[in-house]
Amino acid sequence: MRSSKTLYEGKAKKIIKGPKKNTLIQIFKDDATAYNKKKHKIFKGKGVLNNHISAYIMHYLKSKRIPTHFEEKLNDREQLIKKCEIIPIEFVVRNITAGSIAKKLGIKEGLKLKKPLLEYYYKEDSLDDPMISRDHLITFGWATNSELKKIDKMSLQINKHLRNLFLKKNIILVDFKIEFGRLSSNPKKIVLADEISPDSCRLWDKKTNKKLDKDVFRRNLGSLLSAYEEVASRLGIVH
Ligand code: TMP
Repeated sequence: MRSSKTLYEGKAKKIIKGPKKNTLIQIFKDDATAYNKKKHKIFKGKGVLNNHISAYIMHYLKSKRIPTHFEEKLNDREQLIKKCEIIPIEFVVRNITAGSIAKKLGIKEGLKLKKPLLEYYYKEDSLDDPMISRDHLITFGWATNSELKKIDKMSLQINKHLRNLFLKKNIILVDFKIEFGRLSSNPKKIVLADEISPDSCRLWDKKTNKKLDKDVFRRNLGSLLSAYEEVASRLGIVH
């Protein structure tokens, strides 16, 4: 019998012990939250969709030699992952202006950036995840300079691979958020962790700019589940 004691519970996922040393099981929930939990709703089946989409993407990135925490999809809601110490930073990559960058800096949405923009946010709900600089990250010891160099490089590689993947499906990757961790079995090794799904990306239809991501929920633009289904189906995911 596996132990189902929750080790960690976040807004959209929970983590339980894995079957072997240095493994965990990541379980995708149906909760959608926005604006630091000020908005919350349950969408029956969202967790299943995100599990399948994120597993597909992690698999794809692994095939492109990006090290990840992902081991295998276990069932509709669960993934086996390698245990790691999560770096408490949200790494955001932007290709087109949207969301907080447009709002904060008063910049029009939809501007194509000449080169991808990398941003760092300190993961602390009580502070509303403030944007920080590279120097903050190093000064306060959240990552070393050499770790950050690796992460920056990996983030840009991930962006390149995902832009290509989505473009083939007539989807524009506007921006996304990723997280990294140090493997518990080998803390020198930095891997892509957490998830990559329409919860953590902005995805626009290439022809119409229709939103196929969590902005549908944030901005009340229609059916979140239909949007996520559309992404899964364009990626050829059968579930
Ligand atoms: P932002 O424009 O709100 O800063 O979001 C940038 C990208 O990061 C967008 O694709 C949504 C994603 N994101 C998360 O996945 N989690 C978060 O907590 C935030 C703030 C953004």
